[in-house]
Parts: sequence; structure tokens; C-alpha cells
Amino acid sequence: MNNFTFYTPTKIFFGKGEHRRVGEIIKNYGFHKILLHFGGGSIKKNGLYQEVTESLQQAGISFVPFGGVEPNPKLSLVKKGIELCRRESIEMILAVGGGSVLDSAKVIACGVKCDFDPWAFSLKKKAPKDALKVGTILTLSASGSEMSSSAVITNEEGWLKRGFNSEYNRPLFSICNPELTYTVDKFQTGCGIVDIMMHTLERYFSVTEDTEMTDRIAEGLIKSVIAAGERAIKNPEDYEARAALMWAGSLSHNDLTGAGKEVMMRCHQLEHELSGMYDFVAHGAGLSVIFPAWMKFMYKNRLDKFCQYAVRIWNCELDYAHPEQTALAGIQATEGYFQSIGMPTRLSQLHIDDSKFEEMAEKCTFFGKRVLNDYVTIGKKEMIEIYQLCQ
Ligand code: NZQ
Ligand code: ZN
Repeated sequence: MNNFTFYTPTKIFFGKGEHRRVGEIIKNYGFHKILLHFGGGSIKKNGLYQEVTESLQQAGISFVPFGGVEPNPKLSLVKKGIELCRRESIEMILAVGGGSVLDSAKVIACGVKCDFDPWAFSLKKKAPKDALKVGTILTLSASGSEMSSSAVITNEEGWLKRGFNSEYNRPLFSICNPELTYTVDKFQTGCGIVDIMMHTLERYFSVTEDTEMTDRIAEGLIKSVIAAGERAIKNPEDYEARAALMWAGSLSHNDLTGAGKEVMMRCHQLEHELSGMYDFVAHGAGLSVIFPAWMKFMYKNRLDKFCQYAVRIWNCELDYAHPEQTALAGIQATEGYFQSIGMPTRLSQLHIDDSKFEEMAEKCTFFGKRVLNDYVTIGKKEMIEIYQLCQ
């Protein structure tokens, strides 16, 4: 186990009806005027907007509504949000939605406190030194943004999707009521299941050796997600299943399952070029295509870990004489599960051909400036090979 620092300061309010306390919670923190940030309208359709604004009014919190965040949130809207916060002397941001809304709020919060283009954070040219506080009401179990230190946005100029990590990105509090996810459709539920699994799996397949304790936490989490995922797809109003997914989503990306490990989110890096370039691709759907391809590319370089994964997660039998068969069985089981919850496992299902592989790989190397350190180094050539295995 490597040395590590574990710091996850977000206060979680978890469970039925908790969102109705939002006004009181914000008041207790001492804020009076907030930006109410949301997405394309799902919260107006399902009545959540009404409930949240009532709670704020009852607590005497004044708010400026600012909606319109698109999935794969955009830099241009972030800039509008920064101007609005300054004009209205906003004290904190309440983000109500999925990962896209939360991430948009995080970048606005950092951007308000700087005097340069906030894209510099994503390019890692500058780091935030201060930020407005962000609170969240989560409506979709997937990104883990409600506890994570990341924020991912897309710059429409050049269609680059980039994330940056900062302790300023950790929300002050997150209200997680699994009931709020009942209205998430099957497709987005499936995307969420894959994303949650991937946040833990990217850490599971670490280059660090001797990580048994953290591996076991990861395996328990992933097995719970597999079972809860099946239940939530069958019955969207299964509270226990929705609750398991929601809590797993937060724990998957708050660094718990990466403690003591060197973490390389290589499938995420490869996926961000996909949903950055093809804006209609949902992040989870992109991952469900990329991960099996990455496994097929990589399994021979860490057969023991791929066998462990197959045996412990998918109950495959260990073939001592031919361990590669066990590893392949694990890969097949993963693909089968993704398909069973309605997720794509080939680019053709997303109507994407090979015409942009070269450009995606070029972008993923930050135009020749980096490689991905994995069981074998992934440079531009290997990236293209992995994209080819997605076909
Ligand atoms: O915009 P609205 O109308 O709210 O609709 C959304 C959107 O269309 C809808 N939705 C959300 N909650 C709903 C609902 N529909 C019905 N009922 C509800 N309760 O779902 C659609 C997708 O929402 P989005 O926020 O885009 O999904 P998700 O939570 O999967 O977030 C994806 C974004 O998060 C980033 C991804 O790259 C992507 O941009 N990620 C952020 C991370 C982080 N900050 O730590 C880590 C992740 O790896 C990921 O990269
Ligand atoms: Zn993700």
C-alpha cells in the first residue's frame, strides 16, 4: 500500500425527504443569497424545483435561478454563470441535478474568484486559489461529483473535454435522496451504473501491488452495484436499489477505493475524447464501449489481476492451466452485464465510425505532450488500437 492522504470533507445528508431541508441547511451555514443552478428542465417536470424553492423561501434565502446546463456541460454557460454571480453578489451556489450541473457549478464557483479565463484550470495552466462554496442536491447516481474533487467541462471551441482536480471542487454539502432518482430513465440509469463501476474499477486495476484491503472494499462495492443495477433497471422505484447506487456512486469517486494505490483513470481519459468530440455521447455509454476494449488490449500484461477480477467479481472458475481463458471469461461477463442493462459495447451502436480515431488520440496525448502510464504505456499508437477494439 502506498502512502496516501484521505480528505473527503463534504457533509452528506442522505435519505428520503432530505432535500426539503435545503433551506434550513443553507441558513445554518449563514448564507443569504445563492445561485440556484440546474439543467435542462427535468427538475421542473418532476416537481423538485418547486419543492426546493419553497424550502429556500421558508428559510428566507433569496435565490437567482440559472438553468440550462447541458449534458457534457459547456464553458460558455460557465462564463455566463460567473458574470451572473458577480452581478448579483452571490454568496454560494446550490447545484440541483446530475454530474453536469454539479460540474458546471464547481467551475463557476472557482471562476468567480479569479480574473482570467477559467478554461486555464482545465488546461492545468492555473490552479484555483479560492472559490465560492457549492452545495448540491443530487438527482442522478453516476458521476460521484457530489463528493469528488473533479470538475469536467467541454470547451466548444475545439470540442475539448477536460477535467481538473482541486480541493476547492469538493462540495460543502450534498443532499442525496435516492427517491429523486426514480424519474431517471433506463438509459441514464444504465449510464450511471457503468460510471459508478468504472470509478472503482479504474482504481482497482492500479499498477500498485499488494492492495488487498482496498481491493476487497472495491469488490464489495462493485458486486452491490451489479445487483442493485439489475433491480433498478427492472423497477425504477426500488428504494433500496436506488439507495445502494447513490451511496456507491459517492464512495466510488471520493477516493475511498483508490486509497494506497496509484490511480490512472485511463478509460476516462480515452472516453472524454469520445464524448468531447461527439457531444451526443453520454459519458457512461462511452465508458461501456471503452472499458471492454481496454481490457482486451491490456489483459495479457497483468493476467493475475484480470483473473482475480473474473473470479471475485463474476464468479468465473480459475483455469490454472490457461489463466488467459479466465481473464477472457471476466471480460465477456462484463460485456454481457453492460448489454443486459441496455448499454452499448461497440461504437457502431453509438453510430460512430473510425474517421476520428487519429484526432481523438492526438487530443488524448494533449497534442503529443503526454502518455498514459498503465500496465504498458499507452501512447498515441496504443490509443488508436484501443479505439479500434471498440468497433
Ligand atoms: O438536464 P436535466 O433536465 O436535468 O436532465 C438530465 C440530463 O438530460 C437527466 N436527469 C438528471 N437527473 C434526472 C434526470 N432526468 C430525470 N430525472 C432525474 N432525476 O439526465 C441527463 C444526464 O445528466 P448528466 O448530469 O449529464 O449525467 P451524469 O450525472 O452522468 O453526469 C455526466 C457528466 O459528469 C462528468 C461526465 O464527464 C459528464 O460530463 N463526470 C464528472 C465527474 C466528476 N465531477 O467527478 C467524474 C465522472 O467521471 C464524469 O467524468
Ligand atoms: Zn466517470
